[in-house]
Amino acid sequence: MFDLSLEMLRVVEDAAIASARTMGMGDAHAADRAAVESMRRCLDTVPIDGTIVIGEGERDEAPMLFIGEKVGSRSHENPVTVDIAVDPLEGTNLCATGGAGAITVLAASESGGLLHAPDCYMEKIVVGPAAKGAVDLAAPVKHNLKAIARRLQRGVDDLVVVVLDRPRHQQLIADIRHAGARIRLISDGDLSAGIAAAVAGTGVHAVMGSGGAPEGVLTAAALRCLNGEILGRLIVKDEAQKERMQAMGIADPHRIYSTPELAPGRNLVFAACGVTDGNLLRGVRFSGDGVLTQAVVMTSTTPRVRFIDTTHLENKPDVKVRFR
Ligand code: FBP
Repeated sequence: MFDLSLEMLRVVEDAAIASARTMGMGDAHAADRAAVESMRRCLDTVPIDGTIVIGEGERDEAPMLFIGEKVGSRSHENPVTVDIAVDPLEGTNLCATGGAGAITVLAASESGGLLHAPDCYMEKIVVGPAAKGAVDLAAPVKHNLKAIARRLQRGVDDLVVVVLDRPRHQQLIADIRHAGARIRLISDGDLSAGIAAAVAGTGVHAVMGSGGAPEGVLTAAALRCLNGEILGRLIVKDEAQKERMQAMGIADPHRIYSTPELAPGRNLVFAACGVTDGNLLRGVRFSGDGVLTQAVVMTSTTPRVRFIDTTHLENKPDVKVRFR
């Protein structure tokens, strides 16, 4: 697959700028719509034959970027065929309230390289490269925390675990506290927290608890590039959901997926751009001197992780580019 990183960078940057314009307006739907419309428009200028495998939901509930939708300009004679997973705006409420950590996200791979996860919850544990192979989703919380601490050569009380602040996590939070680790409760955004767990210096050592399954697959795509690990188990709400999973080819909905099972692609590209300031990426900055964005783009075939600061000069010929 030819290198799509710069194209994907452009897609997440434009979506970040579009949604950042709505920051703080208190309208999560408008923020999401701005990101979706921008991403859809931009993807159609990329010379690919793309299929959305993780998106805004099914065709009847999402007007754009629905699962199965075709994207790409297909302008070349033999356009490369890619599967695409999108979370146009991860943290819609964060953007709507100006809270920290909203990002735009997409991952691409050759066909079949991203698990077609249904839009349900997934129980997850995410760790960075040092603790890879040391955790087990079926093991008690205390056991996993000790294993992570051992690998990081520190005490359990030196660990920071990120958990979504939800009533369903009451027991998990109690278990983490009982084990002695520190907790950062977040209101939204377990995807960016998962990436942060695999980047040294972010102060995040693990993410635990349940969040969206689509976010789990996107996290896996990033962690394949970062040498981190996510283990995930789908949470089946009811019989109808179980049947839906089976129709999607998921024979055993209770299995624990490893990172390469969630994102098996050989040619993975992951791109994310900050919308609001977070602990991984800075948010979009609008100024008289253009628009500044910060993004991360990762590729698996040529293993590269690039943090990219961009100054967007469109229609502003007199803009001065500032050194950061
Ligand atoms: P949205 O941006 O789609 O609102 O998702 C944010 C998020 O917090 C994800 O990071 C997380 O996986 C999921 O929602 C958790 O779902 P819930 O809010 O239902 O607990």
